[in-house]
Amino acid sequence: QAAQKGGHKHFMIKEIFEQPKVIQDCLCGRLGTDLDEVRLPELDDLPGTPKRIHVVACGTSYHAGLWGMYLLEQWARIPVQVEIASEFRYRNPILDPDTLVIAISQSGETADTLAGIKLARSQGLKVLGLCNVVGSSVARESDAVLYTQAGPEISVASTKAMCSQLTALLLLALYWGHGNGNLDEKIHRDVVHGLRNLPDLLESTLPALRDKAHELARTFSDVNSFLYLGRGLHYPLALEGALKLKEISYIHAEGYAAGEMKHGPIALIDPKFPTFAIAPDDELFPKVKSNLVEVQARSGQIVALTNVGLDLDVPHRWDVPRATGPLSTFLALPALQLFAYEVADYLGKDVDQPRNLAKSVTVE
Ligand code: G6P
Repeated sequence: QAAQKGGHKHFMIKEIFEQPKVIQDCLCGRLGTDLDEVRLPELDDLPGTPKRIHVVACGTSYHAGLWGMYLLEQWARIPVQVEIASEFRYRNPILDPDTLVIAISQSGETADTLAGIKLARSQGLKVLGLCNVVGSSVARESDAVLYTQAGPEISVASTKAMCSQLTALLLLALYWGHGNGNLDEKIHRDVVHGLRNLPDLLESTLPALRDKAHELARTFSDVNSFLYLGRGLHYPLALEGALKLKEISYIHAEGYAAGEMKHGPIALIDPKFPTFAIAPDDELFPKVKSNLVEVQARSGQIVALTNVGLDLDVPHRWDVPRATGPLSTFLALPALQLFAYEVADYLGKDVDQPRNLAKSVTVE
Protein backbone atom coordinates (compact mmCIF):
# COMPACT_ATOMS: atom_id res chain seq x y z
CA GLN A 1 0.00 0.00 0.00
CA ALA A 2 2.86 2.39 0.76
CA ALA A 3 4.01 2.00 -2.84
CA GLN A 4 0.49 2.60 -4.14
CA LYS A 5 0.33 5.84 -2.15
CA GLY A 6 3.33 7.07 -4.12
CA GLY A 7 5.10 8.56 -1.11
CA HIS A 8 1.98 10.25 0.26
CA LYS A 9 0.65 9.61 3.76
CA HIS A 10 -2.87 8.84 2.53
CA PHE A 11 -4.64 7.99 -0.71
CA MET A 12 -6.77 11.08 -0.28
CA ILE A 13 -3.85 13.50 -0.49
CA LYS A 14 -2.37 11.55 -3.40
CA GLU A 15 -5.69 11.78 -5.23
CA ILE A 16 -6.05 15.51 -4.54
CA PHE A 17 -2.63 16.06 -6.08
CA GLU A 18 -3.56 13.95 -9.12
CA GLN A 19 -6.22 16.45 -10.19
CA PRO A 20 -4.15 18.30 -12.83
CA LYS A 21 -3.62 14.98 -14.59
CA VAL A 22 -7.27 14.04 -14.14
CA ILE A 23 -8.37 17.21 -15.94
CA GLN A 24 -5.85 16.51 -18.68
CA ASP A 25 -7.05 12.92 -19.09
CA CYS A 26 -10.71 13.93 -19.16
CA LEU A 27 -9.96 16.50 -21.87
CA CYS A 28 -7.82 14.09 -23.85
CA GLY A 29 -9.25 13.44 -27.32
CA ARG A 30 -12.20 15.69 -26.50
CA LEU A 31 -10.32 18.97 -26.63
CA GLY A 32 -6.90 18.33 -28.16
CA THR A 33 -4.42 21.13 -28.86
CA ASP A 34 -5.50 21.04 -32.48
CA LEU A 35 -9.23 21.21 -31.75
CA ASP A 36 -11.22 24.38 -31.27
CA GLU A 37 -14.43 22.53 -30.57
CA VAL A 38 -15.33 19.88 -28.08
CA ARG A 39 -15.72 16.41 -29.58
CA LEU A 40 -17.86 13.91 -27.75
CA PRO A 41 -18.44 10.94 -30.07
CA GLU A 42 -19.90 9.12 -27.05
CA LEU A 43 -23.07 11.15 -27.60
CA ASP A 44 -23.56 10.00 -31.20
CA ASP A 45 -26.13 7.41 -30.16
CA LEU A 46 -28.29 10.00 -28.40
CA PRO A 47 -30.86 12.06 -30.33
CA GLY A 48 -29.08 15.47 -30.59
CA THR A 49 -29.25 18.32 -28.08
CA PRO A 50 -31.68 17.44 -25.29
CA LYS A 51 -34.73 19.64 -24.66
CA ARG A 52 -34.55 19.08 -20.91
CA ILE A 53 -32.15 17.37 -18.54
CA HIS A 54 -32.68 15.53 -15.28
CA VAL A 55 -29.48 14.82 -13.35
CA VAL A 56 -29.69 11.91 -10.91
CA ALA A 57 -26.87 11.22 -8.43
CA CYS A 58 -25.84 10.81 -4.78
CA GLY A 59 -23.28 12.36 -2.45
CA THR A 60 -20.40 14.19 -4.09
CA SER A 61 -21.68 13.22 -7.53
CA TYR A 62 -24.92 15.03 -6.70
CA HIS A 63 -22.94 18.17 -5.89
CA ALA A 64 -21.17 17.87 -9.24
CA GLY A 65 -24.59 17.66 -10.90
CA LEU A 66 -25.79 20.82 -9.15
CA TRP A 67 -22.71 22.64 -10.41
CA GLY A 68 -23.36 21.35 -13.91
CA MET A 69 -26.90 22.72 -13.80
CA TYR A 70 -25.62 26.30 -13.55
CA LEU A 71 -23.41 25.93 -16.63
CA LEU A 72 -25.80 23.87 -18.76
CA GLU A 73 -28.58 26.38 -18.20
CA GLN A 74 -26.35 29.41 -18.68
CA TRP A 75 -24.45 28.27 -21.75
CA ALA A 76 -26.78 25.85 -23.52
CA ARG A 77 -30.08 27.27 -22.19
CA ILE A 78 -31.30 23.74 -21.53
CA PRO A 79 -33.59 23.50 -18.46
CA VAL A 80 -31.95 21.23 -15.88
CA GLN A 81 -33.33 19.61 -12.77
CA VAL A 82 -30.92 17.93 -10.35
CA GLU A 83 -32.21 15.17 -8.12
CA ILE A 84 -30.95 13.13 -5.22
CA ALA A 85 -31.36 9.62 -6.61
CA SER A 86 -32.98 8.19 -3.48
CA GLU A 87 -35.72 10.84 -3.77
CA PHE A 88 -36.13 10.62 -7.52
CA ARG A 89 -36.74 6.88 -7.50
CA TYR A 90 -39.72 7.03 -5.15
CA ARG A 91 -41.46 10.30 -5.90
CA ASN A 92 -43.19 9.23 -9.09
CA PRO A 93 -41.63 12.07 -11.12
CA ILE A 94 -43.31 13.49 -14.21
CA LEU A 95 -40.95 12.46 -16.99
CA ASP A 96 -41.21 13.70 -20.53
CA PRO A 97 -39.69 11.48 -23.26
CA ASP A 98 -37.76 14.52 -24.60
CA THR A 99 -35.81 14.65 -21.35
CA LEU A 100 -32.30 13.26 -21.14
CA VAL A 101 -31.34 11.76 -17.79
CA ILE A 102 -27.70 12.20 -16.82
CA ALA A 103 -26.74 9.69 -14.13
CA ILE A 104 -23.51 10.70 -12.40
CA SER A 105 -21.62 8.09 -10.40
CA GLN A 106 -17.94 7.59 -9.68
CA SER A 107 -18.28 3.90 -8.92
CA GLY A 108 -21.14 3.20 -11.28
CA GLU A 109 -22.57 0.88 -8.61
CA THR A 110 -24.65 3.13 -6.33
CA ALA A 111 -27.98 1.37 -5.80
CA ASP A 112 -30.18 4.49 -5.73
CA THR A 113 -28.61 5.93 -8.88
CA LEU A 114 -29.09 2.62 -10.68
CA ALA A 115 -32.73 2.53 -9.60
CA GLY A 116 -33.12 6.06 -11.02
CA ILE A 117 -31.72 4.90 -14.35
CA LYS A 118 -34.11 1.93 -14.46
CA LEU A 119 -37.08 4.14 -13.66
CA ALA A 120 -36.17 6.62 -16.41
CA ARG A 121 -35.60 3.92 -19.00
CA SER A 122 -38.82 2.15 -18.11
CA GLN A 123 -40.61 5.37 -19.12
CA GLY A 124 -38.79 5.59 -22.43
CA LEU A 125 -36.19 8.22 -21.51
CA LYS A 126 -32.61 8.06 -22.74
CA VAL A 127 -29.88 7.94 -20.12
CA LEU A 128 -26.35 9.27 -20.36
CA GLY A 129 -24.08 7.75 -17.71
CA LEU A 130 -21.25 9.93 -16.44
CA CYS A 131 -19.08 7.51 -14.62
CA ASN A 132 -15.53 6.64 -13.76
CA VAL A 133 -15.42 2.87 -13.58
CA VAL A 134 -15.32 1.24 -16.98
CA GLY A 135 -17.88 -1.52 -17.46
CA SER A 136 -19.70 -0.67 -14.20
CA SER A 137 -23.44 -1.19 -13.78
CA VAL A 138 -24.23 2.47 -14.56
CA ALA A 139 -22.18 2.18 -17.75
CA ARG A 140 -23.99 -1.01 -18.75
CA GLU A 141 -27.49 0.24 -17.92
CA SER A 142 -27.15 3.59 -19.72
CA ASP A 143 -27.83 4.34 -23.40
CA ALA A 144 -24.52 6.20 -23.72
CA VAL A 145 -21.54 6.65 -21.40
CA LEU A 146 -19.11 9.49 -20.93
CA TYR A 147 -16.21 8.13 -18.91
CA THR A 148 -14.71 10.72 -16.61
CA GLN A 149 -11.18 9.22 -16.76
CA ALA A 150 -10.14 9.94 -13.17
CA GLY A 151 -8.43 6.57 -12.69
CA PRO A 152 -9.02 4.41 -9.59
CA GLU A 153 -10.15 6.39 -6.55
CA ILE A 154 -9.30 4.56 -3.31
CA SER A 155 -10.01 7.13 -0.60
CA VAL A 156 -13.62 6.84 0.57
CA ALA A 157 -14.02 10.62 0.44
CA SER A 158 -14.28 11.47 -3.23
CA THR A 159 -11.92 14.16 -4.52
CA LYS A 160 -10.42 13.67 -7.97
CA ALA A 161 -13.58 11.94 -9.20
CA MET A 162 -15.55 15.13 -8.59
CA CYS A 163 -12.90 17.13 -10.44
CA SER A 164 -13.33 14.80 -13.42
CA GLN A 165 -17.14 14.99 -13.23
CA LEU A 166 -16.99 18.79 -13.29
CA THR A 167 -14.64 18.67 -16.27
CA ALA A 168 -17.01 16.35 -18.13
CA LEU A 169 -20.05 18.52 -17.29
CA LEU A 170 -18.19 21.60 -18.46
CA LEU A 171 -17.40 19.86 -21.74
CA LEU A 172 -21.08 18.95 -22.15
CA ALA A 173 -22.15 22.56 -21.54
CA LEU A 174 -19.59 23.80 -24.08
CA TYR A 175 -20.61 21.12 -26.57
CA TRP A 176 -24.36 21.66 -26.41
CA GLY A 177 -24.08 25.45 -25.97
CA HIS A 178 -21.84 25.76 -29.01
CA GLY A 179 -23.95 23.25 -30.93
CA ASN A 180 -27.26 25.04 -30.41
CA GLY A 181 -25.76 28.52 -30.82
CA ASN A 182 -26.65 29.74 -27.34
CA LEU A 183 -23.08 30.06 -26.09
CA ASP A 184 -21.35 33.32 -26.91
CA GLU A 185 -18.35 32.70 -29.24
CA LYS A 186 -15.95 34.72 -27.13
CA ILE A 187 -16.86 32.88 -23.94
CA HIS A 188 -16.41 29.60 -25.80
CA ARG A 189 -12.95 30.63 -27.07
CA ASP A 190 -11.80 31.98 -23.70
CA VAL A 191 -12.94 28.91 -21.79
CA VAL A 192 -11.38 26.52 -24.30
CA HIS A 193 -8.12 28.46 -24.01
CA GLY A 194 -8.39 28.50 -20.20
CA LEU A 195 -9.10 24.77 -20.11
CA ARG A 196 -5.91 24.00 -22.02
CA ASN A 197 -3.86 25.91 -19.45
CA LEU A 198 -5.82 24.67 -16.45
CA PRO A 199 -3.78 21.53 -15.62
CA ASP A 200 -0.53 23.57 -15.45
CA LEU A 201 -2.16 26.33 -13.45
CA LEU A 202 -3.53 23.86 -10.93
CA GLU A 203 -0.26 21.92 -10.74
CA SER A 204 1.68 25.05 -9.89
CA THR A 205 -0.93 26.19 -7.34
CA LEU A 206 -1.43 22.98 -5.34
CA PRO A 207 1.67 23.21 -3.08
CA ALA A 208 0.73 26.69 -1.86
CA LEU A 209 -2.89 25.60 -1.35
CA ARG A 210 -1.69 22.77 0.83
CA ASP A 211 0.54 25.06 2.92
CA LYS A 212 -2.34 27.41 3.59
CA ALA A 213 -4.72 24.55 4.37
CA HIS A 214 -2.14 23.17 6.82
CA GLU A 215 -1.91 26.54 8.59
CA LEU A 216 -5.68 27.08 8.74
CA ALA A 217 -6.28 23.54 9.97
CA ARG A 218 -4.27 24.32 13.09
CA THR A 219 -6.35 27.41 13.76
CA PHE A 220 -9.74 25.74 13.32
CA SER A 221 -9.34 22.10 14.33
CA ASP A 222 -10.97 22.64 17.74
CA VAL A 223 -14.28 24.05 16.49
CA ASN A 224 -17.50 22.05 16.76
CA SER A 225 -19.20 23.36 13.68
CA PHE A 226 -18.52 25.21 10.43
CA LEU A 227 -20.77 27.09 8.03
CA TYR A 228 -19.80 27.00 4.33
CA LEU A 229 -21.19 29.71 2.09
CA GLY A 230 -21.12 30.27 -1.66
CA ARG A 231 -23.34 31.66 -4.38
CA GLY A 232 -24.03 30.65 -7.96
CA LEU A 233 -21.54 28.06 -9.17
CA HIS A 234 -19.88 28.19 -5.79
CA TYR A 235 -22.97 27.17 -3.86
CA PRO A 236 -22.54 23.48 -4.81
CA LEU A 237 -18.91 23.87 -3.79
CA ALA A 238 -20.00 25.11 -0.37
CA LEU A 239 -22.10 21.94 -0.03
CA GLU A 240 -19.12 19.84 -1.07
CA GLY A 241 -16.68 21.64 1.26
CA ALA A 242 -19.02 20.97 4.18
CA LEU A 243 -19.49 17.34 3.14
CA LYS A 244 -15.73 16.75 2.95
CA LEU A 245 -15.15 18.24 6.40
CA LYS A 246 -17.86 16.18 8.09
CA GLU A 247 -16.98 12.96 6.26
CA ILE A 248 -13.36 12.80 7.37
CA SER A 249 -12.93 15.05 10.42
CA TYR A 250 -16.37 14.40 12.01
CA ILE A 251 -16.76 18.13 12.60
CA HIS A 252 -20.31 19.21 11.89
CA ALA A 253 -20.54 21.47 8.86
CA GLU A 254 -23.33 22.77 6.72
CA GLY A 255 -23.21 24.27 3.29
CA TYR A 256 -25.61 27.10 2.45
CA ALA A 257 -26.35 29.42 -0.41
CA ALA A 258 -24.88 32.65 0.98
CA GLY A 259 -28.02 34.66 0.22
CA GLU A 260 -30.07 32.20 2.25
CA MET A 261 -27.99 32.70 5.40
CA LYS A 262 -30.33 35.41 6.63
CA HIS A 263 -33.17 32.88 6.71
CA GLY A 264 -31.71 30.78 9.51
CA PRO A 265 -28.00 30.10 9.92
CA ILE A 266 -27.27 33.71 10.86
CA ALA A 267 -28.86 32.92 14.22
CA LEU A 268 -26.00 30.52 14.92
CA ILE A 269 -23.15 32.95 14.24
CA ASP A 270 -20.90 33.63 17.22
CA PRO A 271 -17.11 33.61 17.77
CA LYS A 272 -17.13 29.81 18.05
CA PHE A 273 -19.06 29.15 14.83
CA PRO A 274 -16.77 30.03 11.93
CA THR A 275 -17.76 30.59 8.32
CA PHE A 276 -15.87 29.32 5.30
CA ALA A 277 -16.80 31.50 2.34
CA ILE A 278 -16.09 30.92 -1.32
CA ALA A 279 -15.82 34.43 -2.68
CA PRO A 280 -13.91 34.61 -5.95
CA ASP A 281 -13.92 37.47 -8.43
CA ASP A 282 -17.25 37.01 -10.20
CA GLU A 283 -20.45 38.98 -10.65
CA LEU A 284 -21.81 37.76 -7.30
CA PHE A 285 -18.75 38.82 -5.29
CA PRO A 286 -20.35 42.04 -3.96
CA LYS A 287 -23.30 39.99 -2.71
CA VAL A 288 -21.10 37.45 -0.92
CA LYS A 289 -19.07 40.29 0.53
CA SER A 290 -22.15 41.87 2.05
CA ASN A 291 -23.16 38.48 3.50
CA LEU A 292 -19.73 38.32 5.15
CA VAL A 293 -20.14 41.80 6.61
CA GLU A 294 -23.20 40.39 8.37
CA VAL A 295 -21.13 37.52 9.76
CA GLN A 296 -18.44 39.90 11.01
CA ALA A 297 -21.02 42.14 12.63
CA ARG A 298 -21.88 39.11 14.81
CA SER A 299 -18.22 38.42 15.69
CA GLY A 300 -18.08 35.34 13.47
CA GLN A 301 -14.67 34.21 12.29
CA ILE A 302 -14.23 33.95 8.53
CA VAL A 303 -12.04 32.04 6.14
CA ALA A 304 -12.55 33.38 2.63
CA LEU A 305 -11.33 31.78 -0.57
CA THR A 306 -10.90 34.76 -2.82
CA ASN A 307 -8.60 36.37 -5.39
CA VAL A 308 -5.69 38.77 -5.05
CA GLY A 309 -6.68 42.40 -5.30
CA LEU A 310 -10.32 41.95 -4.33
CA ASP A 311 -11.54 44.34 -1.69
CA LEU A 312 -12.38 41.99 1.17
CA ASP A 313 -11.21 42.54 4.71
CA VAL A 314 -11.55 39.28 6.65
CA PRO A 315 -9.29 37.75 9.29
CA HIS A 316 -8.37 34.61 7.33
CA ARG A 317 -8.08 35.53 3.71
CA TRP A 318 -7.08 32.75 1.32
CA ASP A 319 -6.04 34.17 -2.06
CA VAL A 320 -6.01 31.79 -4.99
CA PRO A 321 -4.97 32.65 -8.57
CA ARG A 322 -7.61 33.89 -10.96
CA ALA A 323 -8.97 31.59 -13.66
CA THR A 324 -11.33 32.15 -16.59
CA GLY A 325 -14.98 32.24 -15.46
CA PRO A 326 -16.17 28.90 -14.09
CA LEU A 327 -12.63 27.51 -14.17
CA SER A 328 -12.09 29.19 -10.78
CA THR A 329 -14.00 26.18 -9.42
CA PHE A 330 -11.05 23.96 -10.23
CA LEU A 331 -8.85 25.94 -7.84
CA ALA A 332 -11.46 26.37 -5.12
CA LEU A 333 -12.37 22.66 -5.02
CA PRO A 334 -8.86 21.39 -4.08
CA ALA A 335 -8.58 24.17 -1.49
CA LEU A 336 -11.75 22.87 0.19
CA GLN A 337 -10.55 19.28 -0.07
CA LEU A 338 -7.13 20.17 1.36
CA PHE A 339 -8.62 22.07 4.28
CA ALA A 340 -10.79 19.06 5.23
CA TYR A 341 -7.82 16.74 4.75
CA GLU A 342 -5.45 18.80 6.90
CA VAL A 343 -8.02 19.16 9.70
CA ALA A 344 -8.75 15.42 9.74
CA ASP A 345 -5.08 14.49 9.61
CA TYR A 346 -4.21 16.95 12.40
CA LEU A 347 -6.98 15.41 14.52
CA GLY A 348 -5.55 11.95 13.83
CA LYS A 349 -8.65 10.63 12.04
CA ASP A 350 -8.64 7.66 9.70
CA VAL A 351 -8.65 9.85 6.59
CA ASP A 352 -8.98 7.16 3.92
CA GLN A 353 -11.49 4.98 5.78
CA PRO A 354 -13.81 7.24 7.78
CA ARG A 355 -16.10 5.50 10.22
CA ASN A 356 -19.54 4.39 9.01
CA LEU A 357 -18.90 5.33 5.37
CA ALA A 358 -18.42 3.15 2.30
CA LYS A 359 -16.78 3.97 -1.00
CA SER A 360 -19.69 2.61 -2.90
CA VAL A 361 -23.18 2.15 -1.47
CA THR A 362 -24.65 -0.81 -3.33
CA VAL A 363 -27.67 -1.27 -1.06
CA GLU A 364 -30.48 1.10 -0.16
C1 G6P B 1 -20.68 7.16 -1.14
C2 G6P B 1 -19.25 7.69 -1.16
C3 G6P B 1 -19.23 9.13 -1.69
C4 G6P B 1 -19.90 9.19 -3.05
C5 G6P B 1 -21.31 8.60 -3.02
C6 G6P B 1 -21.86 8.42 -4.43
O1 G6P B 1 -21.41 7.85 -0.18
O2 G6P B 1 -18.69 7.65 0.14
O3 G6P B 1 -17.90 9.59 -1.79
O4 G6P B 1 -19.95 10.51 -3.49
O5 G6P B 1 -21.30 7.30 -2.43
O6 G6P B 1 -21.05 7.48 -5.07
P1 G6P B 1 -20.94 7.33 -6.62
O7 G6P B 1 -19.96 6.19 -6.82
O8 G6P B 1 -22.30 7.00 -7.14
O9 G6P B 1 -20.43 8.60 -7.18
